[in-house]
Amino acid sequence: MERSLVLLKPDCVQRRLMGRILTRFEDKGLNIVAMKMIRMTTDLARRHYAEHVNKPFYPGLESYITSAPLVAMIVEGREAVRVVRSMLGETSGLKASAGTIRGDFSCSRQMNLVHASDGIESAQREIGIYFAPAEICECEPTLAKWLSAIDE
Ligand code: CMP
Repeated sequence: MERSLVLLKPDCVQRRLMGRILTRFEDKGLNIVAMKMIRMTTDLARRHYAEHVNKPFYPGLESYITSAPLVAMIVEGREAVRVVRSMLGETSGLKASAGTIRGDFSCSRQMNLVHASDGIESAQREIGIYFAPAEICECEPTLAKWLSAIDE
């Protein structure tokens, strides 16, 4: 089982898309094991987007990501990091394939609705930014045996 840190960004919350996007993760068979609504601070944004802080688009990204509440969650499942990224599609909603979340709902590179960790190490780092271990709800869903074979 892997875990990915997912953010439903301010545009997702403001556009009332939280439920539809959450439904996609649940429909896929992924588990939400932690979730909270927060307002991102500039300090938190700099920590989360440390690798982008010196990029030309960072000031705009910081202003957007701190502009309104967002929802942080941990999504768990088999190969969750890769699976969730593939469900999001390419960074720009203009380039993302139809059928992906960004391809279906976004027409922007910055306002691309959802963030998801891009690797297992970054997932661990990002999860640690938003959640204490006690906030993560370990639970084996009763449907698990119908989502994949035991020996897969
Ligand atoms: P995310 O997956 O959260 O990772 C970094 C974010 O920066 C990205 O989604 C976009 O919201 C934003 N971003 C990435 N590239 C650009 C860019 N070239 N111009 C503006 N925003 C960008």
